[in-house]
Amino acid sequence: MDERLPDRTAAACVRAALTAPSAHNTQPWLFRLGTDRIDVLTDPRRALAVIDPDGRAMHLSVGAAVCNLRLALAAAGWTSRLAGPGRVVLGPRREPGAGVLVLASAIGHRRTNRGPYSAAPVGADALTALRLAAQAPDIRLTVLDPVRRSAVLALTQAADERQRADPAYRCELARWTDADGTRRDGVPARTFGPRATTAPLPLRDFGLTLPAVERTAARFERHPLLVVLHSRRDTPGGWVAAGRALQRVLLTATVHGLATQPMTQALEVPEFRRYLIDPDVRWCPQMILRVGHAQPAPAGPRRDLRTVVLREPGDRPLPRTTAFPRGALVGAGRRSGR
Ligand SMILES: Cc1cc2nc3c(=O)[nH]c(=O)nc-3n(C[C@H](O)[C@H](O)[C@H](O)COP(=O)(O)O)c2cc1C
Repeated sequence: MDERLPDRTAAACVRAALTAPSAHNTQPWLFRLGTDRIDVLTDPRRALAVIDPDGRAMHLSVGAAVCNLRLALAAAGWTSRLAGPGRVVLGPRREPGAGVLVLASAIGHRRTNRGPYSAAPVGADALTALRLAAQAPDIRLTVLDPVRRSAVLALTQAADERQRADPAYRCELARWTDADGTRRDGVPARTFGPRATTAPLPLRDFGLTLPAVERTAARFERHPLLVVLHSRRDTPGGWVAAGRALQRVLLTATVHGLATQPMTQALEVPEFRRYLIDPDVRWCPQMILRVGHAQPAPAGPRRDLRTVVLREPGDRPLPRTTAFPRGALVGAGRRSGR
């Protein structure tokens, strides 16, 4: 690489990476900036010992951050290649293609949407786009038919009940939920979503240990559209690759105007996760997503750039004010789910 990545561009691209999703919004990542590379590392201090003892979800989040980082670099005119699961090596400059610009424009608009989704069907073209977005060697996305959906919902319900009854789970959830929305990590009350009025979907209740938080009530859909992401390898490298695919799926959904919500309780209880192994190819389940049309959801908080960037002693601090430009969402999708 002949040219050095300017600090402002590096800061903007790392900010884009920070908007990636993470379990309980732990933001379990660190970024080490080198002259020709950016390493995205896991931050074990932010591990979730109860729901994620092996660090699977943490690696998935790192993968999602890597995806955002590379897209933001590409949109800024910098090619990159992966030289390891979290190692992004910069290449020569190149004008970004239209596909990159469309996906990158969704980075600042993607949200986890915990509201009710409407009965409007998700179009076949959007579903095809989601499947294609996930496509990578050893990764695949499956749209569940009604029979498998019922099975996944039953497993999720059972896992959710098990977790709610576990004091260690409640304690961990309490540590990562925030009644007043003053923290820069964790899940703030404004993003909990409404309480369900009728037979609820087994959505994770982020208000479980904060019963005093006021929430509106709403009727949720009975038959959600669910997709499951599987990977061939159930290793840290496989999890990071699944996280990259997950983020491409979430951004593609955003471009198509679709709301998304991870529903991962069944993946966090090993006895239940076993039942979600792909029956055809025996690949491992890494993510379950609810997908649909919904009212926009509020954004969750993110930590300050300076707390996540590791630099060499003597390096100048990155500019504080450079935000990843939220800009307009490029693409034909209807505006919902953000
Ligand atoms: C591995 C993983 C598991 C998650 N599990 C759930 C879940 O079960 N329920 C849920 O509502 N959100 C879940 N989320 C979404 C996070 O809570 C969310 O990304 C985080 O709070 C930040 O909010 P944002 O996605 O709107 O930026 C999960 C995210 C990841 C990456």
